Amino acid sequence: MKKTLNIAIDGPAGSGKSTVAKIVAKELGIAYLDTGAMYRALGLKSHSNNISVFDENAVGIMLEKTCIDIKYEDGIQRLFLDGVDVGLKIRENHISQLASDISKNHAVRLAMVELQRKIAEERDCVLDGRDIGSFVLPNAKHKIFLTASIDERAKRRHKELLSRGETVDINNLKQDIAKRDDNDMMRDFAPLIKAPDAIEVDTTTMTIEEVVNHILNQIKG
Ligand code: DC
Repeated sequence: MKKTLNIAIDGPAGSGKSTVAKIVAKELGIAYLDTGAMYRALGLKSHSNNISVFDENAVGIMLEKTCIDIKYEDGIQRLFLDGVDVGLKIRENHISQLASDISKNHAVRLAMVELQRKIAEERDCVLDGRDIGSFVLPNAKHKIFLTASIDERAKRRHKELLSRGETVDINNLKQDIAKRDDNDMMRDFAPLIKAPDAIEVDTTTMTIEEVVNHILNQIKG
């Protein structure tokens, strides 16, 4: 089977991964896989079913009865949770911390990583997440690690939520992001980390276009 082209874009919350990954994928004419969406979908399901994301046993049982399906329409990812498109619901702010907490569950991570590897094996794609270059696809051809100051990341997230009609206090958002970073970096299994061979890009003072061009230049390099 022909080896697929995989580009890993990792980094903390609000570093611009998804915006940039989507454009890079479009420019290259390949698919985009938002891996965080999978953990968000599981966070949403546990919330809707009143299951604590910390209850390993209950989450394990829930996982066995859950179907996460990724479909592509004109290169755009749609995520179906048990047959329902939850693309918008999973973006609500209160789902972020639930996603981070449930992603610490080993069974959850193993199942999601398996799904991510399968998709990456089947098609050329740009994947964004926390552990793509370090754990999911250690042999990915290109690895980028995006960072930005916490103030800038909170500002970006605030703008994104506002555009979706959600009003959140920016200082609370900053605290939420710091807490989530900590959670994602400190977990023992496949934490948020820069792979040793990833190229780090501090996007604090860069425009989206500049980040995209920088990454495309690295890839075409
Ligand atoms: O990228 P995001 O903010 O939508 O991700 C939500 C949470 O999911 C994030 O805080 C941690 C978890 N996540 C993960 O553990 N591994 C990934 N590859 C992607 C996301």
